Amino acid sequence: MERTFLMIKPDGVRRGLIGSIIARFEAKGFKMIAGKLMIISDELVKKHYYEHEGKPYYHDLTTFMTSGPVFAMVWEGEDIIKLARFMMGSTDPEKATPGTIRGDYATRMNRNVIHGSDSPENASREINLFFNEDECVRL
Ligand code: CDP
Ligand code: MG
Repeated sequence: MERTFLMIKPDGVRRGLIGSIIARFEAKGFKMIAGKLMIISDELVKKHYYEHEGKPYYHDLTTFMTSGPVFAMVWEGEDIIKLARFMMGSTDPEKATPGTIRGDYATRMNRNVIHGSDSPENASREINLFFNEDECVRL
């Protein structure tokens, strides 16, 4: 069993997509073990997106991510890190296949609705940034 960190970004929350997105992961058979609506601090967004510091889109990304509530979650399931990324679709919604979350709900790279960890190392790092172990339900 594997854990990943998923987060509905401020555009997804603002557009009322929390329920539809959660429904997809539930239908797939994955289990949410923690979830909260929160506004990310400047400090937290810098830690979360540290790999992107210095990129041309970094300022827009961090400003956007702190612009309104996000819905942060921990999910559990077999091979979930890779499969959740498949379900999200390409980072650039123009390249994301219809049927994926970004393919169905987004049109722009900088407003692409959802974040998902890309490796076991980042999953564990990101889960620990957003949640304490006692916030994760034991299934
Ligand atoms: O989110 P994902 O892991 O698919 O992509 P990433 O390469 O780790 O980039 C993180 C986030 O930065 C993306 O989801 C976009 O919101 C943003 N980004 C952007 O606005 N413009 C780019 N050229 C690349 C990334
Ligand atoms: Mg990434």
